[in-house]
Amino acid sequence: MANKLKFPEGFLWGAAASAYQTEGGNSHCDWWAWEHSARREDCLRKEGKDPSDYQSGIACDFWNRYDEDFALAQHLSHNAIRIGIEWSRIQPEEGVLDEAALEHYEKILQSAKYHGLKVFLTLHHYTLPVWFMKKGGFTKKENITYFLHYARNAAKRFSQYADFWVTINEPILYAAQSYWMGIHPPQVKSFHTAKQVTDNLIQSHNLLAEYIQQHLRQPVSMAFNLSDLQPSGLLGGLAAGLADYATNEYVLRRTIGRCDYIGVNYYFHHHIGLLGIRKHSHSQHYRTDRGWGIHPEGIERILLRLRKYKKPIYILENGLADNKDDKREKFIKDHLFYVHQAIGKGVDVKGYLYWSLTDNFEWEEGFWPRFGLIEIDREDLLRRKVRYSATKFAEICRNNYLEV
Ligand code: BGC
Repeated sequence: MANKLKFPEGFLWGAAASAYQTEGGNSHCDWWAWEHSARREDCLRKEGKDPSDYQSGIACDFWNRYDEDFALAQHLSHNAIRIGIEWSRIQPEEGVLDEAALEHYEKILQSAKYHGLKVFLTLHHYTLPVWFMKKGGFTKKENITYFLHYARNAAKRFSQYADFWVTINEPILYAAQSYWMGIHPPQVKSFHTAKQVTDNLIQSHNLLAEYIQQHLRQPVSMAFNLSDLQPSGLLGGLAAGLADYATNEYVLRRTIGRCDYIGVNYYFHHHIGLLGIRKHSHSQHYRTDRGWGIHPEGIERILLRLRKYKKPIYILENGLADNKDDKREKFIKDHLFYVHQAIGKGVDVKGYLYWSLTDNFEWEEGFWPRFGLIEIDREDLLRRKVRYSATKFAEICRNNYLEV
């Protein structure tokens, strides 16, 4: 007989997305400029790739089709959604607040509410206005004030629609990918700069969250990317401890005082030894289309270590690229099983948002990785097609239990 694993009453179920990856048509953004830069295009051509496959273009045309997407989310029994707003749309130029963009975002948010969705609203998700990057972006402490100006204005304007705020998405990953590994714009490779950017993001969060808490009295957090890092081999404990401090703990410890809840993005499990990351043979047969090993148990370990903070926890991202849709249902159910285990051990998890609602622009990888519960048919006018796994996830959302 099937066992029903019940989730707490009022549990939030849904999916997450970011503004730039879905909206399309945003030429004031640093990513747009990078996608069209000679440096990026030449590099892709050398790899035998067509640059236009790696340009966001119209993306999912969410900017115009938001109502259709929210209606689908509602149809799939979601009661929550995470979306973002784009600073570069709201302030395409320094000192300008674009009223038309603000009004358009208002319509988007009203539509989410109309479809019965609680809204997690992200204010910064990797992308920045071109003018802000020309000033040095988050490498400079004095630039924090520009971000605060935008984010406080936006938060005030949209507070009646947002149920939860997400100030910054994955600060460590942003800093590492853009300023250390050099794979995202502006493609800098400097550990020192990445550390500076991280520290400035921490300060930005703390100042912005203070404003939201004091003036808007709404719950706020970051989306922390937390990885399950296990020691491997000789001195593995030491190596994993150091990696854990840098990737998981550094930002968490410095911002937790200004978080009303903890937003968790979980994708990775690694075995860390003195020689770096070791492949996990156990998960070889079970990988995402991006080649990432799938390790659902790790989410329980992540959640258990957050228990000590005694704050509500929302999973703000967990998902996989799976074009054939033959792993997604199992992936979701396995992760939810371990989330449920953690809840049974006293962790206050209050929601789970799958990444992502629709297929979208997967940053430097372009459009090929398919993360969506809903397929976007790029050959057929971006037609939305609900995947089978989405209907299985919908059953869980509707029932508020997982059958095992
Ligand atoms: C990011 C998303 C991204 C996803 C899958 C997350 O770390 O927040 O923007 O699409 O990973 O790569």
